[in-house]
Amino acid sequence: MKKILVIGSTNTDFVLKVGAIPQVGETVMSRSFQQLPGGKGANQAYACGMLGGRVTFLSAIGEDGLGGVVMENMRRAHVETRYIRTTNEDSTGMAVICVDETGNNSIVVVPGANLYCDCGYLMDHRDAIDMCDILLVQLEVPVEGIFSAVEYAHKRGKTVILNPAPCPDSIPDDVLQNVDYITPNETELQKLTGCRMDCPEGVREGAETLLRRGAGQVIVTLGSKGAMFCNDSKTEHFPAWQVPVADTTAAGDTFNGAIAVALAEGKGIEEAIRFANAASSLAVSRKGAQTSVPSRAEVDKFMNDRGGI
Ligand code: ATP
Ligand code: RIB
Repeated sequence: MKKILVIGSTNTDFVLKVGAIPQVGETVMSRSFQQLPGGKGANQAYACGMLGGRVTFLSAIGEDGLGGVVMENMRRAHVETRYIRTTNEDSTGMAVICVDETGNNSIVVVPGANLYCDCGYLMDHRDAIDMCDILLVQLEVPVEGIFSAVEYAHKRGKTVILNPAPCPDSIPDDVLQNVDYITPNETELQKLTGCRMDCPEGVREGAETLLRRGAGQVIVTLGSKGAMFCNDSKTEHFPAWQVPVADTTAAGDTFNGAIAVALAEGKGIEEAIRFANAASSLAVSRKGAQTSVPSRAEVDKFMNDRGGI
């Protein structure tokens, strides 16, 4: 099996269950509060481990004990954490997450120590990139470092997966040219391309815009509608599995981790997307970020029980 390297953020998630997400100027009462391991990078690395991948994680945490709790969770999923940077300059990243009755959320991230997952740190650990086959990154840590790691990995023939979340105003074409798979959700695709997302044609036009600008292949995640795949020769829609929704936090992270694991196992991209839809549909039916990520056995059983899609 191929080796996966995930680079990205580590956060402690402060999860507030609310009746409805507060409007501007509004105060609402929370129905429950939980402190849980999160961060887009950590969630994706954890998902890779839980789904059976061989995975190493590069990230930065504070010397405050909070990051250590997340790393303990990583190790329970057999994620290699030996290169994690610890800094006393700032505290471990935090995210305040409001989850409403329908399972939708809004998130504010305090990056903290994630700012130390920078270019210098990543280039000091370029041997970890040398040792991997697949690099999976998001943009919740300084983007200059991520873009350098992507360039370094691409030059060495690694498969690069970029999940553009949170989404910057733009991503330079020369970065897209180093990316094999870019995996925006609809909001991110809209921000990156300006295309309309209220019809399949608009989504397709957005994906084609990213292809023209240099991305190798595009997978757009569509929430309850599943995912759309687009490359130079075809566009295909993969419907989501119908599940009761508890909390959509880390749906995208689970999806990206699952894509990386499936590619590491040598699956084709269509099979990888079906697997990722199944893994992330299980994640939305549970609460929290890492707490919602299913095991490989659970995903295999789910797909088996439902007889494929
Ligand atoms: P998040 O930011 O909430 O982690 P995201 O916006 O990055 O997620 P989405 O497109 O919302 O990503 O979801 C990723 C995948 O999760 C989808 O492609 C789909 O497979 C699955 N998914 C999301 N919402 C649902 C749902 N309501 N029912 C079934 N599957 C879902
Ligand atoms: O994608 C979900 C994650 O986004 C949460 O775990 C939170 O930490 C934010 O980074």
